[in-house]
Amino acid sequence: MTELFTIVDFDDWRAQARELLAAGRPPSEVDFRAARDRQQRLLAASEGNTTTAVKSATRVPPAFIELAKHVACHRDDDRWNDLYSVLWRLTHDEPRLLDVATDAEVHRLRRREKQVTRDAHKMKAFVRFRKVQDADGELFVAWHRPDHDTLRMVAPFFARRFKGMRWSVLTPYESVVWDMRELKYGPGVPADQAPLDDALEELWKTYYGSIFNPARIKLDMMRREMPARHWRTLPETRIIPELLAEAPRRVESMIQYAARGERGAAAYLPETRELRALAAAAAACRGCDLHARATQTVFGRGPIGAKLMLIGEQPGDQEDLAGEPFVGPAGEVLGEALAAAGIARDEVYVTNAVKHFHWEPRGERRLHKKPPARAMASCRPWIEAEFEAVAPRVVVCLGSTAAQVVVGRDTRLTRDRGVFRTTKFCERTLLTWHPSAILRAPDRAAAAMMQAELIRHLRLAAQEAVAA
Ligand code: URA
Ligand code: SF4
Repeated sequence: MTELFTIVDFDDWRAQARELLAAGRPPSEVDFRAARDRQQRLLAASEGNTTTAVKSATRVPPAFIELAKHVACHRDDDRWNDLYSVLWRLTHDEPRLLDVATDAEVHRLRRREKQVTRDAHKMKAFVRFRKVQDADGELFVAWHRPDHDTLRMVAPFFARRFKGMRWSVLTPYESVVWDMRELKYGPGVPADQAPLDDALEELWKTYYGSIFNPARIKLDMMRREMPARHWRTLPETRIIPELLAEAPRRVESMIQYAARGERGAAAYLPETRELRALAAAAAACRGCDLHARATQTVFGRGPIGAKLMLIGEQPGDQEDLAGEPFVGPAGEVLGEALAAAGIARDEVYVTNAVKHFHWEPRGERRLHKKPPARAMASCRPWIEAEFEAVAPRVVVCLGSTAAQVVVGRDTRLTRDRGVFRTTKFCERTLLTWHPSAILRAPDRAAAAMMQAELIRHLRLAAQEAVAA
C-alpha cells in the first residue's frame, strides 16, 4: 500500500526519506506531496508527519544532497517522489547513478536543478530595491516574483553584498529581512497584492516593519493597552529608542508593567446574560493584550439551554480567522469524538477558556502559544457569564487550561480526568483530554488510547446530562 506524506520543505523531506530508507520502504510504497498553501502546511505541521531521528546506515553521496537542495526549491509537484526514487536507487544497487545523464529520472532532476539555478541568478540580477524610511532609519525594500522557491538560496548572497545596509525582499510566498546581523524570514505578499513603488513603502510601514520587529509590536500593543495619560508619565517612554536597541528582556518587563494596568474582561461585561448580547460585547473586549494580535474574539457557540457545555483552551489559527470555536484540526478530532459518542454537535455549547488566539510567528505560520496566566484570569468573566446564560447540567473541560480556569490551579489531567466533581460553576464537571493533545500524541497507539478515552468521557457526560 502506498502511504502519503505531505512535505513542507527540504529538511522535512530529508527526515522522512531517511526514515523510510532505513525502514526499507521502496519508492512504490510511498507518495510524497508538496504542501502548497498555508492551510496544508498547518495540517502537516499539526499532524506532525511524526519523524523520529533515525540514523540511516546508508551513506548518501554529498553530490546528491547538493542536487536535492536545488531540486527542493523547484515548484514541480513530482520533485519529492523523483528525489526519493533516485535516492533509493543510489543507495541500493546503483551507486554511480548520478553519472548516468541519460537516465530519465536523473535527467529530470538535473533539468530542475538548472531551472532553479537560473531562477536564483535572475533574482540576483533583477531585484530592484527601493529606499524606505522607518523608525529605525533607512531601509531598502524590493518585491520580486521568482518562478521557484529560491529566496532562501539567494538571501545569503544579498546579505554578503549589502552587509552594511538594512534591506528586505518580499516575494509571493515568503519574505526576508537583513538587519545587518542576521536574516529573518516572514510571510509573503500574495501576488495579487503585488506592491508597486509607493505601495511598497506603505506595505513596509504598515505591516512588514512590525512583523520583523517584535519589540515594536509589543510597544504598540502596550501603547494601545494603557490609557494615554499613564503612557506619557511612564519614565520608560523617554528612553524608548534605547530600549528598542536593548535586550528584549527589558521590553518584556515593560509589557508586564503595562499588564498591571490591564482591566480584565469585567469592564466590558454587559448587564444582561442574553447570549447574543454577551457575544456582541465580547467582540469589543480589550480586557487583556491578546486582542491586539488576534483577528477577532471567538465566543462560544451553541443553543441556550444546552445540557452539555464543552470548554477548550483558546481559539487556534483557523478559529481566529473563522470566528468560531473548534473548526480547525482540533475541531475535526472533537467532531469525530462527539459523533462516536452519539452526541449531536449542534446540541452542545462549545466555548474556550480564553477568547482570543495567542500566537507567535514561525516562518509563514502563526504558532499557537499557551495563553498566559494573566489572560486566563482576564478572560474569566466571559466564561462565568456563559455559565450563567447557558446553565448546563454537565460541563467537560478539554485539557488543562480549561481545567485550571473552571476547577482550579492544582488540577492534573493525568490524575483527575474522567471523574465528576462539583465546581462553583456546575455540579457535574468532568476533565478530559484536549483534542490537540491527541494530534500531538507521541505515536499512533497513544493517540488511539486518548481518543478512546475522550469518547468514553464524552459519552459519560452525555448520559449524566440526560439523567440529571
Ligand atoms: N483548540 C481549542 O482549545 N479551541 C479551539 O477552538 C480550537 C482549538
Ligand atoms: Fe478580552 Fe479575553 Fe480577549 Fe483578553 S482574551 S481581550 S479578556 S476576550
